[in-house]
Amino acid sequence: MTQTTTEKKYLNRAKAVGIRVRKPFFNPKAIRRHYFANSPVMSHLLTALSSTFPIGEQFFVHSVRNVRDRVQDEKLQAEISAFIGQEAMHSKAHAEFNDAWRRDDYQLDSFQAWLARQDVRSRALHPKVQLAITCAFEHFTALLGGYILRHPEILKTLDDDAVRLWMWHAIEEIEHRAVAFDTYRAVYGDEKLRRQVMRGVTTGFASLTFYSASRLFLQDKKNSLPKVGGNIFGLYMLAKMFVTLIPEYLSYYKKDFHPHEIDYTDIVNYWKKTLAEDYAMPSFADDLVQLQQPVFAENTKMPNVIYS
Ligand SMILES: [Fe+2]
Ligand SMILES: [Fe+2]
Repeated sequence: MTQTTTEKKYLNRAKAVGIRVRKPFFNPKAIRRHYFANSPVMSHLLTALSSTFPIGEQFFVHSVRNVRDRVQDEKLQAEISAFIGQEAMHSKAHAEFNDAWRRDDYQLDSFQAWLARQDVRSRALHPKVQLAITCAFEHFTALLGGYILRHPEILKTLDDDAVRLWMWHAIEEIEHRAVAFDTYRAVYGDEKLRRQVMRGVTTGFASLTFYSASRLFLQDKKNSLPKVGGNIFGLYMLAKMFVTLIPEYLSYYKKDFHPHEIDYTDIVNYWKKTLAEDYAMPSFADDLVQLQQPVFAENTKMPNVIYS
């Protein structure tokens, strides 16, 4: 009741610029089990990540809501509303995606139950620590999202509906990448804790992902193990991604780090156009109307990411 009342007072505020809440548009049942480059390793890894999103992203929303009454800045308030809207949609879409795997004898329930217990424990932490955890995870989602956007050759190997889900999510993670961070800075500004928490989150995130992906791989070992070529390719892609992302990951430990120091504008616009035109996603067609020429010039090419 208190939560509803608290949220209501934000309803009539101005809208955020550059962070749009879009409806998902994909059919989870049309996605093959090894949808990523026909690689069981990579597919299980992404599905494992997806299995953490419904609970994880609700926690992110909770940690920002905890403190939004202490945010004075109207622009940031508008961004928080958009952040909450986007994460709520992601949570729902990934719950649908996860549910589609239950038909195929994946056992997600015990892992989900374990996650729910961790969620209860995390919500008992000090609100500052909860928000610092969200900032750290948002750094990961932005850098992973950015990596996917910059590597269209990977996406060529995905089923169309898998592209729709993962690219929609990647773009929105990039759009709202600074919201939790700016909220943390506005309310607490404790840089030492922000960096300390990132160390813990890194270890937790790495072990959680490894554990949940291995679990799915083993549940599916009859189908996964024989695809030796796909698995080797998946491990190669993982190693390449890991090495490429190290500098971006480490930038979080700088005292003056800000999530907007990497400018994704061109690459995000390129993908909005691609999703609207090549993947017929209605929610990105609205972006095309808003972002007119010359951003979407006739022969838009893959742009380079600009580091400022
Ligand atoms: Fe998300
Ligand atoms: Fe996010």
